[in-house]
Amino acid sequence: MTLPPGGRALTAPDVRAHKGSPEPLVMVTAYDAPTARAAAAAGVDLVLVGDSLGMVVLGYPDTLHVTVEDMERATGAVARSGLRQLVVTDMPWTSYHQGEAAAVANAARLVRAGAGAVKLEGGAKRLPVVQALLDAEVPVMGHLGLTPQSVMAMGGFKVQGKAADEAKVLVSDAITLAESGCFALVLEGVPAELAAEVTRCVPVPTIGIGAGGSCDGQVLVFHDIVGWSGPRVPRFVRRYADLEVRAAEALATWAGDVRSGRFPSEQEAYRA
Ligand code: KIV
Repeated sequence: MTLPPGGRALTAPDVRAHKGSPEPLVMVTAYDAPTARAAAAAGVDLVLVGDSLGMVVLGYPDTLHVTVEDMERATGAVARSGLRQLVVTDMPWTSYHQGEAAAVANAARLVRAGAGAVKLEGGAKRLPVVQALLDAEVPVMGHLGLTPQSVMAMGGFKVQGKAADEAKVLVSDAITLAESGCFALVLEGVPAELAAEVTRCVPVPTIGIGAGGSCDGQVLVFHDIVGWSGPRVPRFVRRYADLEVRAAEALATWAGDVRSGRFPSEQEAYRA
């Protein structure tokens, strides 16, 4: 979508108002200034400071180790890059599971760090916390389906909503979140037909990841797109570059130059 005129940044209401547009929304994760600059230069619509940070950047096996401090620092780095995209920050595990007041206090830290909205995982059971955040004027993006913070309860990273009863609950959760005021919903790891049904049923944009092509937008993890997340990626990822290999090649060439005395050259040195 076109960024607003006059240099202003995209807002949650702008994204909400995009529902019904034939142009898909594009969201990508970013965790620091370089990834935020690349996302901005690419002209995406939204930047998600995802708690995938824990797995992609910090080397944890899941997102459960990510803290509010981690998200605060990453959000600050992304926001300081001065992008006009809407910055959405994930509320990490346990930051919104211990009462509404704690959730609002944690969201406030993320907003003060530079978030223009927060995202949290879960359906109808999150209503009180969603309401408290909206009452505190914080825009909320929902996240349904394969919600990585539920990895233990789900018994692994598994596609959700395959069974008819699960699918029914997911549609109902999506409607509940949208009616409660969430401005958009991420649908992760669900059958394409179910994502299409949710997209038809809710008045807010759906943004899919591993949810087929009928959502109102798509999101992927930055490092998966550019080939900087190791050899194994989920089936829904399409790689557009091989930066991990390119970076290793560049470093190996530089190391060779150092060892052979070709680096630094005269031009790369200062003289008195
Ligand atoms: O943390 C994250 O990167 C996410 C996306 C995968 C939607 O939540």
